[in-house]
Amino acid sequence: MDTQVIGHRTPRVDGENKLTGRADYTTDWYVEDMLHGYPVPASIAHGTLEALDIEPVLAMPGVVAVYHHGNFPRLYRSPSSQAHQDQVSEVRLPFEDERIHYDGQYVAMVVAERYEQARAAAQALQARYRQDDGARPGLLYTREDGRPLESEGGSRGDPESAYERAPVKIDHVYGIAPESHMQMEMHATLAQWRDGRLIVHESSQGVIYQQKAMARIFDLPEEQVEVISHYIGSGFGNKLFMWPHAVAVAAAARELGRPVKAVLPRQQDMESGGNRPASRQRLRLAADEQGRLQSMRHDSTTETSFVHPYVDSVGSPTLSLYACDNAAISQHLLEVNHGTPCPMRAPGEVSGIYALECAMDELAIALDMDPLELRRRNYNHEDPAKGLPWSSKHLDTCYDSAARRFGWERRDSAVGSMTEGDEILGWGMATSSWFAGRQPCMARVELRADGTVLAACGTQDIGTGTYTVVAQTVAELTGVPLDRVEVRLGESSLPAGPLSGGSMATATTLPAVAAAVRAAIDELKEVATDEDAPFTGADPDGLTFRDGALVDAQGKRVTFDELLTGQKLGSVNGDGQAAPGDEQQQYSFRSFGAHFVEVRWDPAITRLRVSRVVSSIDIGRAVNPATARNQVEGAIVMGMGMGLFEKLDYDPRDARLINNNYSDYIVTSHADMPDIDVELLDNPDYAFNEFGARGVGEIGLTGIAPAIANAVYHATGKRIRELPITIDKLL
Ligand code: MOS
Repeated sequence: MDTQVIGHRTPRVDGENKLTGRADYTTDWYVEDMLHGYPVPASIAHGTLEALDIEPVLAMPGVVAVYHHGNFPRLYRSPSSQAHQDQVSEVRLPFEDERIHYDGQYVAMVVAERYEQARAAAQALQARYRQDDGARPGLLYTREDGRPLESEGGSRGDPESAYERAPVKIDHVYGIAPESHMQMEMHATLAQWRDGRLIVHESSQGVIYQQKAMARIFDLPEEQVEVISHYIGSGFGNKLFMWPHAVAVAAAARELGRPVKAVLPRQQDMESGGNRPASRQRLRLAADEQGRLQSMRHDSTTETSFVHPYVDSVGSPTLSLYACDNAAISQHLLEVNHGTPCPMRAPGEVSGIYALECAMDELAIALDMDPLELRRRNYNHEDPAKGLPWSSKHLDTCYDSAARRFGWERRDSAVGSMTEGDEILGWGMATSSWFAGRQPCMARVELRADGTVLAACGTQDIGTGTYTVVAQTVAELTGVPLDRVEVRLGESSLPAGPLSGGSMATATTLPAVAAAVRAAIDELKEVATDEDAPFTGADPDGLTFRDGALVDAQGKRVTFDELLTGQKLGSVNGDGQAAPGDEQQQYSFRSFGAHFVEVRWDPAITRLRVSRVVSSIDIGRAVNPATARNQVEGAIVMGMGMGLFEKLDYDPRDARLINNNYSDYIVTSHADMPDIDVELLDNPDYAFNEFGARGVGEIGLTGIAPAIANAVYHATGKRIRELPITIDKLL
């Protein structure tokens, strides 16, 4: 498809709003008569709340109410069903009982006239607990495995006997510490009730999901709930499904008859607003002498809280990434006294690919083979998990191109052999991958008499550039310039759109917007061929729409604004919808890439730095190469955090979170920044959708941490199998 706007670098259409402060983030919203809620977190991780000393707090300045188990209104749990889109992050309602399951679980919420008053009162509230013995501080502190998860198992061939027979094999256990999303904008809710209708501003990755969940919890018809999320300071998965703070705020607003807003402090966001669960993964790989995989076994355990069974699917990439006749995955789930985990960028797969790609490196060393060559020898052309061909796979090009740009052929495989001054260089690589998904979606487009076009969809832009790609789609299909396209997103009352999650929003939304554009143009043609219209009597199908105008075979041209103005019409509207079809039975859809990493290890001062990252990523067509590249670059930075720094530290004695703040939880900073070279291949995947776009949000993160771990081994000879690779592990 020859395109004018799609596939071309396009500045964000919402950029000016963001730079000038006009972007209305939930955290910034103020309404008349608004009260402030401030949750009170438990200070134990396992036990019972015995008493709350409410009276002194009620007497504090500005305090209006304190909600807790004793006075919180009775609500209903959301069924939290994926199929019905009423998923929540934690099914347990706030203040449901007095059991405490994790550090930071809400025991009360103070509501006051001012934010500072609510915070002061919340911090003054005295609670008495009975702390139970036996708190589980996390998966990585125990050998327990919890319960088997049948849903996460799968196998083909006979991996056990193939493993026994094979001449070269490895068997190792890898661990990943729990991580925090550390998004810029805190979880935040502003709830207002108007004539029995609940209006919620939420920093949300899924306004439709939150609308449905709120409707279940407050027993309201869905249309009585509106959820608004025009701008969000990013989420990375912790804002896909709503959390208990939103329920507490909405209930308080109803009880008090006034709007209530809560913005979680960072500490609470980290304790009770989601995390990537720890995982422990055993990888058994076996190959013949030529490096052809004979057997792959991947047995994992992930953790969840005691109040919500969250599962990170870590095993699935192992069944798909390489050619191997014998493969099996299994998974267990262990409940621990942590805040409930949730999806975090490339959930499951990023963890599984970490273990798999470290294990591949270890297998390459056992074979005395170049690790890139090992990947090439096990290249597949169809998805062995589904027995279907890949719709479009150019991983070989990614390997070639990234290796060439990195200079991989100059690698000396001997550990510690590459030096520059006082530094030892380590070169490592890994495969990157993320499944490509699509959801059903609806959208509306209006061609308006003032010459502008409106596109509206109940999805949201979480900072990834959805406003821009929707505007590009309209501009592409109408020829109307971007500055005359208005995009409305982030309202649950708009035509139902997808979660901003799973890297699916672009591939899901754009086909529906395109269908709506076509429907609006069809409507315009009807109007144009009416009586007393410019093309009266003409066959609507004989008209074409180009550069914002209808044109007939004789070359007569009327712009849509002239036409509508002449017909005294404000607008014509088109409704569009799109959904995945039978292509899902013909192909398997997945994006692929390759990351090459250079680390520098200076043993004299025990300094480890990532100095270079070279990546090639194949995501089909990048609708906006500028924002798509941003996504991969950001993911690389996040992957450095996963590889080297990030770890939620729970106290092994009582399971309380130690580093619940930005100074003790270390993330990648500017000073850590390596030279980053990202290439996006451009191979439109038209089997997936008409724009050939598979999505880009998460893939960049997969493969970074193992490429770093492999590079660290190459530099130091130390195989660190537990993330993050902090300096102490190298001493
Ligand atoms: Mo992403 S974890 O699907 O927001």
